[in-house]
Amino acid sequence: MDYKAHIKIIDNYPKEGIQFKDITPLLQNGPAYKKAIDEMTEYVKSKDVDIVVGPEARGFVVGCPIAYSLEKSFVPVRKTGKLPREVVTEDYGLEYGKDTLAIHADSIKEGDRVIITDDLLATGGTIEATIKLVEKLGGVVVGCAFLIELQYIDSRAKIKDYDVFSLIRYS
Ligand code: PRP
Ligand code: MG
Repeated sequence: MDYKAHIKIIDNYPKEGIQFKDITPLLQNGPAYKKAIDEMTEYVKSKDVDIVVGPEARGFVVGCPIAYSLEKSFVPVRKTGKLPREVVTEDYGLEYGKDTLAIHADSIKEGDRVIITDDLLATGGTIEATIKLVEKLGGVVVGCAFLIELQYIDSRAKIKDYDVFSLIRYS
């Protein structure tokens, strides 16, 4: 599958110098979306996980169908102020900004095996913050699965101690 044919690159969006990877054409092509999710699911399945965690919003687009197809739990990580009950939070820096992520405090138990999924690994700020949230709750991060990895950024530096899978790579 030529996945890159279904990803549009938008120059200087949302900021000057950023080459935005627009995954919406992939999502709009049913067979391509399914194949991409199926390939990510095979990786997740090999890790024997209890919980799939995904950071909003695009992490839901990949994490939810993987959790659903494996009949595993899905736990959302959200930008601050969106979850209604007790949370733990973590500040992080993005390729184009800063924010705070939150997770429900009771969503993961000590020793739960967790996979984190997201659409894109860029600077690694989002995944690093999400890993910290999972570990604060006692979860064991057994891997991270991305639809896209930007290899021209030193993306893996922040997560070198973790197992990483990516389906589409830009170097
Ligand atoms: C984007 C993307 C990843 C993250 C990758 O999310 O969906 O989550 O940036 O960048 P990083 O590796 O430098 O952290 P964004 O925060 O733009 O929001 P969205 O998913 O809600 O669209
Ligand atoms: Mg995101």
